[in-house]
Amino acid sequence: MQPRKDLLDIASLRDEELRAILDSAVEMKAAFLRDGEQLPNLRGRSVLTLFYEPSTRTRSSFELAAHRLGAHVTTFTVGTSSVVKGESVHDTIDTLMSMKQDYIIVRHKNSGIPAVIARHCKAAVINAGDGAHAHPSQAFLDAFTIREHFGSLAGRRVIIIGDILHSRVARSTSLMLKRLGAEVAYMGPGSLVPPTAHTGLPRFTHWDAAFDWQPDVIYLLRVQNERIDTPFFPAADYHQAFGITEERLQRIAAENMAIMHPGPVNRGVELCDAAMDYRNCLVCQQVQNGVIARMAILNHLTPQTLR
Ligand code: CP
Repeated sequence: MQPRKDLLDIASLRDEELRAILDSAVEMKAAFLRDGEQLPNLRGRSVLTLFYEPSTRTRSSFELAAHRLGAHVTTFTVGTSSVVKGESVHDTIDTLMSMKQDYIIVRHKNSGIPAVIARHCKAAVINAGDGAHAHPSQAFLDAFTIREHFGSLAGRRVIIIGDILHSRVARSTSLMLKRLGAEVAYMGPGSLVPPTAHTGLPRFTHWDAAFDWQPDVIYLLRVQNERIDTPFFPAADYHQAFGITEERLQRIAAENMAIMHPGPVNRGVELCDAAMDYRNCLVCQQVQNGVIARMAILNHLTPQTLR
């Protein structure tokens, strides 16, 4: 297979790569579950996480994944770095590359920044979320989790609910699932699920129609309070219109559907407390599979520093 330096989005990956990464994640999981086992795949390599936006899951799971593959890991903390003195992204990368990083994992509020960095340096660059553009490692862990839970992806029906328009998760995960043969639909407020977004997918604005579509997975997007300009967001109204209420949870359980969410969850907004304890709530499985999928992604890439 042609070596790949960077992971910037799902669209630029070949089908064979999607499948190869997912398949190698199965082996990574077996190794991960053998307590403390460290694989030699990235031994002697340097991995740096560079997050200009907050993260719990993505950053810590990339760091753990790199550690389990034998790499040296550096956490670059933007808030206590020279970025606050005005150092540009360009100069920050030059500085870090002088320290011979092999892999740089970047999250930034602006779409396209990881691609700019990737063009500029020899390290393998992984997009850990850029604006509303892409979050490819989330797509891998989501696909892996669905395949693991159901045994296959082809023909599975996944409805993604929330602010589709501004969601990098919706963009990456829906593309990934469609390319692997799953069916995807959207639901949310009409203004946030525009007909122009990801054309050709079923779009719903009410739960009745969504249930009639008979999804296997209810995938909730986080309400991104930090990106909402209005001072007051009607959380209770959103919960009643688009959330998993206790009443809806009963139907979801009766039909054995799975619930997924990229996290962090807003309890009482996207879902009720009981939904987190539901037997087919896969949120914790997604988090664990985040480490596995990221081990497989790191293993798949070849920095130019190694060529
Ligand atoms: N799903 C996700 O990206 O979570 P974090 O923001 O905690 O990394």
